[in-house]
Amino acid sequence: MKVSPSLLAANFANLTPDIEKLNESDADFLHLDVMDGVFVPNISFGFPEIEAVAGICKKPMEVHMMVVQPEKWISRVKSVGAYLMNVHQEACLHLDYTVEKIKESGMKAGVTLNPATPVFMLEDIITKLDLVLLMSVNPGFGGQKFIENTLKKVRELKALIDSKGSKALIEADGGVNEDTGRRLAEAGADILVAGSYVFKSDDPLGRIKKLKSL
Ligand code: DX5
Ligand code: ZN
Repeated sequence: MKVSPSLLAANFANLTPDIEKLNESDADFLHLDVMDGVFVPNISFGFPEIEAVAGICKKPMEVHMMVVQPEKWISRVKSVGAYLMNVHQEACLHLDYTVEKIKESGMKAGVTLNPATPVFMLEDIITKLDLVLLMSVNPGFGGQKFIENTLKKVRELKALIDSKGSKALIEADGGVNEDTGRRLAEAGADILVAGSYVFKSDDPLGRIKKLKSL
Protein backbone atom coordinates (compact mmCIF):
# COMPACT_ATOMS: atom_id res chain seq x y z
CA MET A 1 0.00 0.00 0.00
CA LYS A 2 1.16 3.53 -0.75
CA VAL A 3 0.73 6.09 2.04
CA SER A 4 0.34 9.85 1.88
CA PRO A 5 0.34 11.54 5.31
CA SER A 6 -1.70 14.76 5.36
CA LEU A 7 0.08 17.84 6.69
CA LEU A 8 -3.24 19.23 7.94
CA ALA A 9 -2.89 17.22 11.16
CA ALA A 10 0.75 18.20 11.80
CA ASN A 11 1.94 20.76 14.36
CA PHE A 12 1.58 24.15 12.63
CA ALA A 13 3.50 25.93 15.38
CA ASN A 14 6.56 23.90 14.40
CA LEU A 15 6.29 21.84 11.24
CA THR A 16 9.97 20.94 10.91
CA PRO A 17 10.06 17.94 13.32
CA ASP A 18 6.96 16.42 11.68
CA ILE A 19 8.41 16.81 8.19
CA GLU A 20 11.78 15.43 9.26
CA LYS A 21 9.99 12.42 10.70
CA LEU A 22 8.18 12.00 7.42
CA ASN A 23 11.47 12.19 5.51
CA GLU A 24 12.80 9.25 7.54
CA SER A 25 9.57 7.27 7.14
CA ASP A 26 8.31 4.80 4.53
CA ALA A 27 5.68 7.32 3.37
CA ASP A 28 5.36 7.62 -0.39
CA PHE A 29 4.03 11.20 -0.61
CA LEU A 30 3.16 14.26 1.43
CA HIS A 31 -0.50 15.30 1.06
CA LEU A 32 -1.18 19.06 1.17
CA ASP A 33 -4.74 20.35 1.63
CA VAL A 34 -5.36 23.80 0.16
CA MET A 35 -8.75 25.33 1.12
CA ASP A 36 -10.31 28.63 0.05
CA GLY A 37 -13.26 29.04 2.43
CA VAL A 38 -15.61 28.96 -0.59
CA PHE A 39 -15.47 25.44 -2.02
CA VAL A 40 -15.17 24.14 1.55
CA PRO A 41 -16.18 25.85 4.82
CA ASN A 42 -12.61 26.25 6.04
CA ILE A 43 -9.28 27.91 5.15
CA SER A 44 -6.04 26.01 5.62
CA PHE A 45 -2.76 27.25 4.14
CA GLY A 46 -1.46 28.61 0.86
CA PHE A 47 1.58 28.81 -1.38
CA PRO A 48 4.07 30.53 0.99
CA GLU A 49 3.58 27.73 3.50
CA ILE A 50 3.87 25.03 0.83
CA GLU A 51 7.09 26.65 -0.44
CA ALA A 52 8.56 26.55 3.07
CA VAL A 53 7.57 22.91 3.46
CA ALA A 54 8.98 22.05 0.01
CA GLY A 55 12.34 23.38 1.19
CA ILE A 56 12.66 20.59 3.76
CA CYS A 57 10.38 17.82 2.50
CA LYS A 58 12.05 14.96 0.61
CA LYS A 59 8.83 13.19 -0.38
CA PRO A 60 6.91 13.99 -3.58
CA MET A 61 4.14 16.46 -2.77
CA GLU A 62 0.57 15.92 -3.90
CA VAL A 63 -1.57 19.02 -3.60
CA HIS A 64 -5.30 18.57 -2.93
CA MET A 65 -6.99 21.76 -4.12
CA MET A 66 -10.27 22.33 -2.28
CA VAL A 67 -10.88 25.60 -4.09
CA VAL A 68 -13.19 26.97 -6.75
CA GLN A 69 -11.65 27.48 -10.20
CA PRO A 70 -8.54 25.39 -9.48
CA GLU A 71 -7.39 25.90 -13.09
CA LYS A 72 -6.30 29.41 -12.07
CA TRP A 73 -3.55 27.94 -9.87
CA ILE A 74 -1.92 25.30 -12.08
CA SER A 75 1.30 27.21 -12.76
CA ARG A 76 1.55 28.30 -9.11
CA VAL A 77 1.15 24.73 -7.87
CA LYS A 78 3.79 23.61 -10.37
CA SER A 79 6.13 26.40 -9.22
CA VAL A 80 6.15 25.19 -5.60
CA GLY A 81 7.44 21.83 -6.82
CA ALA A 82 4.31 19.66 -6.63
CA TYR A 83 4.47 16.20 -8.14
CA LEU A 84 0.70 15.87 -8.54
CA MET A 85 -2.22 18.30 -8.51
CA ASN A 86 -5.64 17.07 -7.42
CA VAL A 87 -8.69 19.08 -8.48
CA HIS A 88 -12.30 18.44 -7.49
CA GLN A 89 -14.66 17.35 -10.24
CA GLU A 90 -17.32 19.52 -8.57
CA ALA A 91 -15.09 22.62 -8.81
CA CYS A 92 -14.30 22.33 -12.53
CA LEU A 93 -16.64 23.61 -15.24
CA HIS A 94 -14.24 22.25 -17.88
CA LEU A 95 -12.61 19.24 -16.30
CA ASP A 96 -11.05 17.88 -19.48
CA TYR A 97 -9.38 21.24 -20.17
CA THR A 98 -8.10 21.50 -16.61
CA VAL A 99 -6.68 17.97 -16.65
CA GLU A 100 -4.93 18.65 -19.99
CA LYS A 101 -3.39 21.86 -18.59
CA ILE A 102 -2.13 20.10 -15.45
CA LYS A 103 -0.47 17.42 -17.59
CA GLU A 104 1.01 20.02 -19.97
CA SER A 105 2.60 21.70 -16.95
CA GLY A 106 4.52 18.49 -16.25
CA MET A 107 2.60 17.47 -13.12
CA LYS A 108 0.57 14.29 -12.69
CA ALA A 109 -3.18 14.91 -12.79
CA GLY A 110 -5.62 13.74 -10.14
CA VAL A 111 -9.38 14.27 -9.91
CA THR A 112 -11.21 14.18 -6.59
CA LEU A 113 -14.83 13.17 -5.97
CA ASN A 114 -16.86 14.30 -2.97
CA PRO A 115 -18.81 11.61 -1.08
CA ALA A 116 -22.06 12.35 -2.96
CA THR A 117 -20.54 12.46 -6.45
CA PRO A 118 -20.95 9.15 -8.27
CA VAL A 119 -17.97 7.40 -9.85
CA PHE A 120 -19.63 7.33 -13.29
CA MET A 121 -18.99 11.09 -13.59
CA LEU A 122 -15.45 10.13 -14.58
CA GLU A 123 -16.40 7.64 -17.33
CA ASP A 124 -15.28 9.91 -20.18
CA ILE A 125 -12.04 11.12 -18.64
CA ILE A 126 -10.71 8.15 -16.70
CA THR A 127 -8.12 7.17 -19.35
CA LYS A 128 -6.49 10.62 -19.06
CA LEU A 129 -6.08 10.53 -15.28
CA ASP A 130 -3.06 9.49 -13.24
CA LEU A 131 -5.10 9.26 -10.04
CA VAL A 132 -8.63 9.48 -8.67
CA LEU A 133 -9.05 10.65 -5.08
CA LEU A 134 -12.25 9.50 -3.39
CA MET A 135 -13.22 11.62 -0.40
CA SER A 136 -14.24 9.35 2.46
CA VAL A 137 -15.40 12.40 4.50
CA ASN A 138 -16.87 15.70 3.43
CA PRO A 139 -13.84 17.86 2.63
CA GLY A 140 -12.74 20.73 4.83
CA PHE A 141 -11.66 19.23 8.12
CA GLY A 142 -9.44 16.52 9.53
CA GLY A 143 -10.52 14.08 12.22
CA GLN A 144 -13.94 13.16 10.80
CA LYS A 145 -15.64 9.79 10.70
CA PHE A 146 -15.10 7.54 7.67
CA ILE A 147 -18.11 7.30 5.31
CA GLU A 148 -18.72 3.59 4.69
CA ASN A 149 -20.18 4.09 1.19
CA THR A 150 -16.62 4.89 0.05
CA LEU A 151 -15.84 1.16 -0.03
CA LYS A 152 -18.54 0.60 -2.66
CA LYS A 153 -17.18 3.54 -4.64
CA VAL A 154 -13.64 2.13 -4.57
CA ARG A 155 -14.95 -1.14 -6.03
CA GLU A 156 -16.95 0.73 -8.70
CA LEU A 157 -13.94 2.88 -9.57
CA LYS A 158 -11.69 -0.17 -9.86
CA ALA A 159 -14.19 -1.77 -12.24
CA LEU A 160 -14.34 1.43 -14.32
CA ILE A 161 -10.54 1.70 -14.46
CA ASP A 162 -10.18 -1.94 -15.54
CA SER A 163 -12.97 -1.75 -18.11
CA LYS A 164 -11.41 1.30 -19.81
CA GLY A 165 -7.80 0.14 -19.55
CA SER A 166 -6.92 3.23 -17.48
CA LYS A 167 -3.75 3.41 -15.40
CA ALA A 168 -5.26 5.71 -12.76
CA LEU A 169 -4.43 4.96 -9.15
CA ILE A 170 -7.18 4.94 -6.51
CA GLU A 171 -6.62 7.10 -3.44
CA ALA A 172 -8.89 7.56 -0.41
CA ASP A 173 -8.88 10.57 1.93
CA GLY A 174 -10.60 11.06 5.28
CA GLY A 175 -11.07 8.98 8.41
CA VAL A 176 -8.33 6.55 7.41
CA ASN A 177 -6.95 4.38 10.21
CA GLU A 178 -5.82 0.78 10.52
CA ASP A 179 -9.36 -0.61 10.29
CA THR A 180 -10.77 1.57 7.49
CA GLY A 181 -7.39 1.38 5.72
CA ARG A 182 -7.49 -2.42 5.66
CA ARG A 183 -11.01 -2.40 4.25
CA LEU A 184 -10.05 0.22 1.63
CA ALA A 185 -7.09 -1.97 0.65
CA GLU A 186 -9.38 -5.00 0.27
CA ALA A 187 -11.75 -2.95 -1.91
CA GLY A 188 -8.89 -1.98 -4.25
CA ALA A 189 -7.38 1.33 -3.04
CA ASP A 190 -3.76 2.00 -4.03
CA ILE A 191 -2.97 5.03 -1.83
CA LEU A 192 -4.21 5.99 1.64
CA VAL A 193 -4.18 9.60 2.83
CA ALA A 194 -4.01 9.83 6.62
CA GLY A 195 -3.87 12.96 8.77
CA SER A 196 -4.95 12.43 12.39
CA TYR A 197 -4.10 8.73 12.44
CA VAL A 198 -0.45 9.57 11.65
CA PHE A 199 0.29 12.95 13.22
CA LYS A 200 -2.01 12.90 16.27
CA SER A 201 -0.16 9.87 17.56
CA ASP A 202 2.93 9.28 19.68
CA ASP A 203 4.38 7.10 16.98
CA PRO A 204 3.86 8.58 13.50
CA LEU A 205 6.53 6.33 11.99
CA GLY A 206 4.90 3.20 13.40
CA ARG A 207 1.51 4.31 12.11
CA ILE A 208 2.89 4.93 8.62
CA LYS A 209 4.49 1.48 8.71
CA LYS A 210 1.18 -0.07 9.73
CA LEU A 211 -0.67 1.51 6.80
CA LYS A 212 2.16 0.56 4.43
CA SER A 213 1.74 -3.09 5.41
CA LEU A 214 -1.97 -3.22 4.47
C1 DX5 B 1 -10.01 16.85 4.55
C2 DX5 B 1 -8.67 16.66 3.93
C3 DX5 B 1 -7.92 15.49 4.42
C4 DX5 B 1 -7.64 15.48 5.91
C5 DX5 B 1 -7.78 14.07 6.38
O1 DX5 B 1 -10.72 17.79 3.84
O2 DX5 B 1 -8.78 16.52 2.52
O3 DX5 B 1 -6.72 15.27 3.68
O4 DX5 B 1 -6.36 15.95 6.25
O5 DX5 B 1 -7.70 14.05 7.75
P1 DX5 B 1 -8.01 12.76 8.62
O6 DX5 B 1 -7.05 11.69 8.13
O7 DX5 B 1 -7.74 13.22 10.00
O8 DX5 B 1 -9.42 12.38 8.35
ZN1 ZN C 1 -6.95 15.93 1.41
